[in-house]
Amino acid sequence: MTDSPRTLLVSSALPYANGSIHLGHLVEYIQSDIWVRFQKLRGHDCIYVCASDAHGTPIMIRAREEKITPEQLIERIAAEQLDDLQTFGVDFDNFYTTHSPENEELVSKMFERLRDAGHIYTRTIEQAFDQEKQMFLPDRFVKGTCPRCKTEDQYGDACESCGATYTPDEVINPISALSGTTPVWKESEHYFFRLSTFTEPLRNWMQAAKLHRNITAKLAEWFDAGLHDWDISRDAPYFGFKIPGTEDKYFYVWLDAPMGYVASFLNLCRQRGDLDFDAYWDKDSKHEVYHFIGKDIVYFHTLFWPAVLEGSGMRTPTSVFAHGFLTVNGKKMSKSRGTFINARTYAKNLDPSCLRYYYAAKLGAGMDDIDLNLDDFVARVNSDLVGKLVNIASRCAGFINKKFDGVLADKLDDDALYTEFAGAAESIAAHYEAREFSKAMRQVMALADSANRYIEQKKPWVMAKDKALEAEVQSVCSQGLNLFRALMIYLAPVLPDIADDTRELFREENWQWHDSAKPLLGRRINAYKPLLTRVEQKQVDAMIEQSKPAAAAVAEQNDTIGIDDFMKIDLRVARIDKAEPVEGADKLLQLTLNLGDSERKVFAGIKSAYRPEDLVGRHVVAVANLAPRKMRFGISEGMVLAAGPGGKDIFLLSADSGAEPGMRVK
Ligand code: 2FM
Ligand code: ZN
Repeated sequence: MTDSPRTLLVSSALPYANGSIHLGHLVEYIQSDIWVRFQKLRGHDCIYVCASDAHGTPIMIRAREEKITPEQLIERIAAEQLDDLQTFGVDFDNFYTTHSPENEELVSKMFERLRDAGHIYTRTIEQAFDQEKQMFLPDRFVKGTCPRCKTEDQYGDACESCGATYTPDEVINPISALSGTTPVWKESEHYFFRLSTFTEPLRNWMQAAKLHRNITAKLAEWFDAGLHDWDISRDAPYFGFKIPGTEDKYFYVWLDAPMGYVASFLNLCRQRGDLDFDAYWDKDSKHEVYHFIGKDIVYFHTLFWPAVLEGSGMRTPTSVFAHGFLTVNGKKMSKSRGTFINARTYAKNLDPSCLRYYYAAKLGAGMDDIDLNLDDFVARVNSDLVGKLVNIASRCAGFINKKFDGVLADKLDDDALYTEFAGAAESIAAHYEAREFSKAMRQVMALADSANRYIEQKKPWVMAKDKALEAEVQSVCSQGLNLFRALMIYLAPVLPDIADDTRELFREENWQWHDSAKPLLGRRINAYKPLLTRVEQKQVDAMIEQSKPAAAAVAEQNDTIGIDDFMKIDLRVARIDKAEPVEGADKLLQLTLNLGDSERKVFAGIKSAYRPEDLVGRHVVAVANLAPRKMRFGISEGMVLAAGPGGKDIFLLSADSGAEPGMRVK
């Protein structure tokens, strides 16, 4: 029996609108989609929302780089993301954007309520400011040397080498990742949310939400350390929503991002007309609200988000479910190894159903990382899905189609075996409900084993040769097909496409979870069409190859670059205005180049061939659009071209080239 109907609103974390969906993202979307499909199959009213996370500095910068508006960028990326997610069977009731009128309305209202209730205050803070770009720099856009372990080229908030966290003003030799210049420290007024006053309500919420012990342990650490108030504003220029009553202050993306869940739901309410928005989000709501997230954003979802909801008089989430990260072949996904795999690249080579199954077979309710071991992937998919599952149907359907005009027997051969399969429904459902998908998959595959044993024992292909055993062949094959059908009902949340094809085979309109309770007897089925083919190693190899950086792949093939790559290089004539030795460097000179409209400081390994004073006034060819690079001796803002074997023979442009600084070379 199914439990009594519930109403649930489920979300997946919102993908940033500046990148492609990759296999890491898919862990979450597939996990939540399976859970939602399971709830729907159980007869519950479950709504699944998501949106593109459209705001923030990185998106603004990316749009500038592409010379388009942020609106154009987020529209294009959101369409790609939705397309990719749909390819993997992720079936949202609504996929919206955080850059929407609904979201602006909701987040502004929340802010006003928080402000009026005294939960917001302003304070002047000092922040890194890029004078060239005329903007404040988010921590991630400040780079420099770790104050603890002295590793160079670290982000302004954390060191990837020693794991230390700090503030950008602690970084040694900070530089702006945008311009390569040294930032200055500038004051600005910011809006803060008094998170610290919500410690008790948050502790209570944490109990009520029955969070997984992994999350509770993290929260306990944060409570012990004491909660810090939260800076919810950012200065212009910023791509986001303006804070009401200000001219140049914007809501920090992390305030409007989770509200994006609510806004996506509000947008759905406005489209559908049969949903009561307030009934879901009022303080005394009876509906259930769940957020699926990755373990890296637990702080935002279990502290900030419930606190701002509480403070603005809205309901808090029923619970938050966090999963771990994806590793591929036991390691962090890597572009050079070809294991940073985009959803599109996977789908070009392999069937999305296989990945859904593999993830399900690995996923539990906790925050452990899951590993996509590609050899194991091939072996497991072929053994479980092709060898065990689909094999049941392919061994039985042919006989029913050919010998019995597609009609199933009136009675089963082994009622007790069917009852065992039907009887597993509640225990499998309990695993799904608890997000213990790997346990559900194990139980289903154990049943598939016993279905195969049954067919192996009966050997319908042998019986079929004996006219006297005709009725038995029909009931044995009908048994096998009904066992298969029950398993496919249990797997429908994981394998929706194969479930659809299976329903078509059995000529059924739709399934509910309890449909596994009764077998189909005495009715016609359709002709069997292959449901899944084996995965070949070469498909995986092709996917890896295609995931390696394009340039590396081209170079590996023929050591050439295309004309498009060449045309990207901006070669200019530059005049050397100054040339200085570099302390501690044997081969380098620091050149100050005049490019006509700008000046660059560049390190060049030409000391063996030139005295610095002889270089002043010389012309060189310079790469003008090379991003600034942090080198051991400082930042190099370009590159000088030279030819020759080295030593005394390094040739620049001739001294009397007649070229003017800034002149294009091609
Ligand atoms: O971490 C991320 O990728 C964010 N874009 C997730 C946002 S989830 C929600 F809060 F909006
Ligand atoms: Zn460090």
